[in-house]
Amino acid sequence: MTATRKPAASDFPRASRAAEFIQSRTRLRPRIGLVLGSGLGAFADELSSATRIPYHKIPGFPRSTVEGHAGQLVIGKLGEIAVAVMQGRVHLYEGYAPREVVFPMRVLGRLGIRAVILTNAAGAINVAYSQGALVVIRDHINLQGANPLAGPNDERFGVRFPDMSQAYWKPYREIALGEAKRLGLGAHEGVYAALSGPSFETPAEIRYLKTIGADLVGMSTVPEVIVARQMGIRVLGISCVTNMAAGILDQPLTHAEVMETGDRVKGQFMALLRAVIPHVAANTGS
Ligand code: HPA
Repeated sequence: MTATRKPAASDFPRASRAAEFIQSRTRLRPRIGLVLGSGLGAFADELSSATRIPYHKIPGFPRSTVEGHAGQLVIGKLGEIAVAVMQGRVHLYEGYAPREVVFPMRVLGRLGIRAVILTNAAGAINVAYSQGALVVIRDHINLQGANPLAGPNDERFGVRFPDMSQAYWKPYREIALGEAKRLGLGAHEGVYAALSGPSFETPAEIRYLKTIGADLVGMSTVPEVIVARQMGIRVLGISCVTNMAAGILDQPLTHAEVMETGDRVKGQFMALLRAVIPHVAANTGS
């Protein structure tokens, strides 16, 4: 007997409703989105003319359950540039389905966002990186065992088989590396491997990730990048190395270490975002 499963209803109308709700709360119409990872939420406090909407007020939005993720959408201005900032995200390891994890990115797409900057905390596999370093993501390896596009495709979001050959838009990477250099931050560029977590990796897993070409490891970002690309949104990804990956140093990994390092370098991270955003704003797609 073959199992019959009802195809899941499309998220397009739900995402459109959430976007309309957000637009009813602010007159700003941002074309740039920003997702702030663990411990990096402070950036949203710098915006002027800001409207803050807790995730639980937005129809259909999942709620963040992790310490260090505030869980609100902030629409405001950085200088003259309107931005939509997600202060915190949800992850697969919280128990959310892949399509729920990417629902906020779907909503950003329906809001009219054409470029998104995704930030995260990551462990460094590449030993040339040090704790606190900022790394511009060149490419990713999806090892989460899930793809947010699995299931029926709604062509209103985009094509069934989106291209991922330049998931992280090269001109944005060059801008970010250039601005980091100008600010004396010396950022790197590397490949981000996404695992589902929530346990940190074993040293053997880290050796495996190194062999397959990963420089960084983390538990987020990739699902959002996949749906952003499907919607034709240009992506810039920046990781903060909060710790060396498992087995590189002779010490256990803790979430406290991740938070502490994030806190220590958030000033630099925010300076880089401030410097990059005007260039991204001048180079959004149509
Ligand atoms: N592994 C996975 N995710 C992470 C890490 C790590 O070492 N550090 C911050 N997020």
